[in-house]
Amino acid sequence: MAFCKNTCWYAMLLLLLIAMTSCIMVDVTSAPAVQNISSMFVGVTIDLHVMRDGWRTMDFSSQKMLTLAKGLAPCYLRVGGTGADFLIFNRTQERQSKRKTNRDIDPVSLDFSMSVLDWDTLNQFVQQAGWELIFGLNALLRANGRWDPTNAIKLLKYTIEKGYKPAAYELGNEPDLYPRINNSVSPASLVDDFGTLRHTLTSMSPSPPLLFGPDTAYVNGYFQQFLQASKNTTVDAVTWHHYYFAGSSGTVEKYHNISILDSLKPLLIDAVGNCTQYAPNKPCWLGETSSSYSGGTTGVSDKYVAGFLWLDKLGLSALYGLKCVIRQSFYGRNNSLIDVNLNPNPDYWLTILYQRLVGSPVLNVSQNTDPNVRVYAHCTNTDSGMGYQKGSVTVYLMNLGHDVVSVDINGGTSQNLYMLSPGDGNGLVSPFVKLNGEILMLPNDMELPPLKPFYHEGTIALEALQFGFVVLPDARKWECL
Ligand SMILES: *[C@@H]1O[C@H](CO)[C@@H](O)[C@H](O)[C@H]1NC(C)=O
Ligand SMILES: *[C@@H]1O[C@H](CO)[C@@H](O)[C@H](O)[C@H]1NC(C)=O
Ligand SMILES: *[C@@H]1O[C@H](CO)[C@@H](O)[C@H](O)[C@H]1NC(C)=O
Ligand SMILES: *[C@@H]1O[C@H](CO)[C@@H](O)[C@H](O)[C@H]1NC(C)=O
Ligand SMILES: *[C@@H]1O[C@H](CO)[C@@H](O)[C@H](O)[C@H]1NC(C)=O
Ligand SMILES: *[C@@H]1O[C@H](CO)[C@@H](O)[C@H](O)[C@H]1NC(C)=O
Ligand SMILES: *[C@@H]1O[C@H](CO)[C@@H](O)[C@H](O)[C@H]1NC(C)=O
Ligand SMILES: *[C@@H]1O[C@H](CO)[C@@H](O)[C@H](O)[C@H]1NC(C)=O
Repeated sequence: MAFCKNTCWYAMLLLLLIAMTSCIMVDVTSAPAVQNISSMFVGVTIDLHVMRDGWRTMDFSSQKMLTLAKGLAPCYLRVGGTGADFLIFNRTQERQSKRKTNRDIDPVSLDFSMSVLDWDTLNQFVQQAGWELIFGLNALLRANGRWDPTNAIKLLKYTIEKGYKPAAYELGNEPDLYPRINNSVSPASLVDDFGTLRHTLTSMSPSPPLLFGPDTAYVNGYFQQFLQASKNTTVDAVTWHHYYFAGSSGTVEKYHNISILDSLKPLLIDAVGNCTQYAPNKPCWLGETSSSYSGGTTGVSDKYVAGFLWLDKLGLSALYGLKCVIRQSFYGRNNSLIDVNLNPNPDYWLTILYQRLVGSPVLNVSQNTDPNVRVYAHCTNTDSGMGYQKGSVTVYLMNLGHDVVSVDINGGTSQNLYMLSPGDGNGLVSPFVKLNGEILMLPNDMELPPLKPFYHEGTIALEALQFGFVVLPDARKWECL
């Protein structure tokens, strides 16, 4: 390194920097590969309350909505939620009437019918977008203590006739919380019910869809007992749900609070521990998840600040062995990726960047010097049209502190930065996000904007309350070749 001529100024600057910034080292070169993930690692949901309410402002003829959906492909769309256990398929009903209901006041009155048109619309949209559908069936249609498959069979028959090919079905939503809706199905009974559904599916089709469950609200005794009672054929992926806190109790601070971020880790360890112990060979999934439950926090959970919990959840989940993380929601309420006018929220762009840049295997990088900085690394996704070659590494990181942090990453000299920051003067609650200083927006209804990196070498200055991705195109990491 060439020494500055004006050593005095140099030393003063150095002292100033040392005083103001912390400096962390990220060791990519020696980070081991610890997990594999697929290109379908990130999925999205549409909650059935949106269908129940006549699809609200979703417009299935909107080219803009289709473009945004296609941008996320390949991915799973999970359609389910509380409404799944109130849904009756009505083959003779053509149209879904628009209704206003309040699920929080009287959930029991919420039985509703799914019309043929609803099902056609959903399946056709999924096909056009290049998505894969996961659909939740009603487990509370019961007779003599067992699940009654009569209504499901009507739906399955119609689905086969139309040539729709959902990837998977679920049976029941958050069965551990059924007592809240004055109902109860034991874990062992639900396992039997899954057996009935499996039998029904295999008797109707030579290539039956998969089965995912139990979709519990928590990793708890119900989850564990369901897996213990399960047979090898009960489910093809084990699903549970996760939210950090209630949307109504949310504050901006909670969305970037380190101890809240950290609360996920022990749950991941318990979930994966149970999956490994009682359902070996079955992948463990977050089947429905977001920052906060009951629709999010108005004015916060669909803004820039939501990116901290979302990006950290993706990082931790991949590192601890989850195989899919399904975000509530693509559309609907205050934690969705697109808004009521079908325009993308900041987390839409974060998800797109994640999918394009982050690949497999997952690398275990750590930095122990600054608790405000979270760092994750994977091999770069080389199949997403971003032009990266095998051997490249993608580091993603966030600064939860209030000071700039200097970040040194080993692994090749050149770095492609994709740094995200609030899109306008609203700061953390900005409805927009900037990529390398430019607001991300659709240039037109037909295509996403180019996602251009900032070319860089050497130490990175990670600004306070920012996050982003660093691709190392010449890392030549052998685990990534
Ligand atoms: C990832 O998959 C590859 C190829 O199937 C396999 O060789 C490797 O052991 C897997 N790595 C981990 C960490 O599971
Ligand atoms: C199905 O819809 C038709 C037409 O709206 C209606 O007449 C019928 O009662 C519905 N059936 C059930 C079981 O809800
Ligand atoms: C459950 O039952 C109790 C007592 O009968 C009743 O007060 C309550 O409204 C019921 N809740 C639901 C969600 O049906
Ligand atoms: C369980 O099922 C999987 C396929 O889903 C199969 O590969 C595995 O061998 C089965 N294990 C046992 C113990 O039957
Ligand atoms: C973060 O959340 C924890 C637990 O909810 C709380 O005790 C702590 O004060 C919060 N930190 C800040 C900086 O507000
Ligand atoms: C399963 O999850 C429970 C939490 O519900 C946890 O206490 C237990 O340690 C987990 N079991 C395994 C084998 O990881
Ligand atoms: C990552 O590596 C650290 C040691 O550097 C280890 O303590 C930790 O358990 C590893 N995490 C995973 C998920 O493998
Ligand atoms: C956010 O939630 C509030 C309160 O429930 C609601 O009035 C508003 O319409 C929601 N916003 C979106 C975008 O769904």
